[in-house]
Amino acid sequence: MKDSAGKTPETLRSSRWFAPDDLRSFGHRSRMMQLGYSEEEFRGKPIIGILNTWSDLNSCHGHFPERVKDVKRGVLQGGGLPVELPALSVDESFNKPTSMLFRNMLAMETEEQIRAHPLDGVVLMGGCDKTTPGLVMGAITAGVPFIYLPAGPMLRGHYAGKILGSGSDAWKYWDERRAGNISDDEWLGIQGGIARSVGTCMTMGTASTMTAITDAMGLTLPGASSIPAADSGHQRMGSDCGRRVVEMVWEDLTPEKIITDGSVKNAAIVAMATGCSTNAVVHLIAMARRAGCDLTLDDLDALGRVTPLIANVRPSGKDYLMEDFFYAGGLRALMKQIEERLDTTCITVTGKTMGQNLEGAVVYNDDVIRPLSNPVYHEGSLAVLRGNLCPSGAVIKPAACDPKFYNHEGPALVFDSYPEMKKAVDDENLDVTPDHVMVLRNAGPLGGPGFPEWGMLPIPKALIKQGHRDMLRISDARMSGTSYGACVLHVAPESFVGGPLALLKTGDIVRLDLANRSLDMLIDEDELDARRKAWTPPEPKFQRGWGWMFSKHVGQADTGCDFDYLERSFGEAAGEPDI
Ligand code: FES
Ligand code: MG
Repeated sequence: MKDSAGKTPETLRSSRWFAPDDLRSFGHRSRMMQLGYSEEEFRGKPIIGILNTWSDLNSCHGHFPERVKDVKRGVLQGGGLPVELPALSVDESFNKPTSMLFRNMLAMETEEQIRAHPLDGVVLMGGCDKTTPGLVMGAITAGVPFIYLPAGPMLRGHYAGKILGSGSDAWKYWDERRAGNISDDEWLGIQGGIARSVGTCMTMGTASTMTAITDAMGLTLPGASSIPAADSGHQRMGSDCGRRVVEMVWEDLTPEKIITDGSVKNAAIVAMATGCSTNAVVHLIAMARRAGCDLTLDDLDALGRVTPLIANVRPSGKDYLMEDFFYAGGLRALMKQIEERLDTTCITVTGKTMGQNLEGAVVYNDDVIRPLSNPVYHEGSLAVLRGNLCPSGAVIKPAACDPKFYNHEGPALVFDSYPEMKKAVDDENLDVTPDHVMVLRNAGPLGGPGFPEWGMLPIPKALIKQGHRDMLRISDARMSGTSYGACVLHVAPESFVGGPLALLKTGDIVRLDLANRSLDMLIDEDELDARRKAWTPPEPKFQRGWGWMFSKHVGQADTGCDFDYLERSFGEAAGEPDI
């Protein structure tokens, strides 16, 4: 045991289950013995829960059955007892209607699993998009010391001499296929080459963004988010997590000591500098609010305006992928570049400050991790818009769209549902020009339902054939972090609850003015009033079950889509359970 002013064997949380000489504790001890443990293996030792979001249908976490062995090895070496618990494997690829419907389910499960069990510390194993915020949100509220183990990005995709990036190249080559430029054989080759190892999407998509944010917040071992899943360094990081979390228990290094206004701001700055996924906005706000830190869309916009994007990683960057980012020095090297903008006094899971963790970090390739004097984009990756179309905000990723749309006015082409839009874009005779503003509504948290990633609306075939690859698009949906284009997302309030997007009609003129951060429909107030009065709410999407509960309690995009009753402001977290 480490010498520390924190916990003693008697004050360990698990001792409440195992120490008393009473009938209930007898039961707990005898059941541990049923599991094959001697008293000396579990009494007075930190019990470390490993929350493992593995499943046979989570292609990004395919290495977790092996990796958990590394974590267990580390825990044992540190003098703790590892116990593995399954946690909802919210996978991005197969989960319908959208994985976002289940982020809060994982957050609830995480919180309650930790609280209900004799755990002194926790290792959270996640990575595929929603697993990071889901696990972290729940663990913050549960309040026991935890460390986050990011799954790590997969290796670069590869086919026929070309490097392929997750998501981004799927969209790109799909457009080429729709234009008739790709054969069946080539398409099959791309299909097999684009995801060629375990690990999360290796563009700076939502997974890499969220794990980087978690790293920047001080919740992972320094730089852990950049290590490719298939690298043996990832195994070593796993056992390091196990050893370190045992020490964190003795030090009583709880999440509220790590997640502060300073570390949340660090995470937001790093998100902007990496070219983060737009989804970061929703998840970062939700995570911050769980920790009692107030982070708003306007805070993010303000940071975005002054933080240059320096990670040249696709889709915001031009050339590279996460594997290159790792070889270039990884997140520590990026953070070193912007160190003077960060609060380096924040405490991290290492027990040291962020500044100490960054000591010695070096950039090995300054085309991948750019100096501030030569950024990929002069501002951060996200901008927040407001106006009569989005009074509670909307989000755009300027670095990932054609600059000619930064200031754009054009007629709306409005769709009420995804199937309606899909049918229209495949119609080669669709009446559409490159100036049109394509709009999809009923795609938000309640309308989607579940806030699906539909926001990179496909370019109509009629325009693709003319050679166009971008147009202004607006929706109350999210988009995949691997997507790109002039897509305005997260329009709030969403149309399903009567947000003004519900009032827009095909042919109305829409204006985007990025410099002024505004998005408006040019319709006079009387006309808007009349349309508002004529609007009737759509039928609810769910009559029972999880979807019904989700619909009753989910918040809008600008507040992070947590459930009202899970928000910190709703009430005190449950204390320790009676044993
Ligand atoms: Fe799992 Fe992209 S599908 S991270
Ligand atoms: Mg994604």
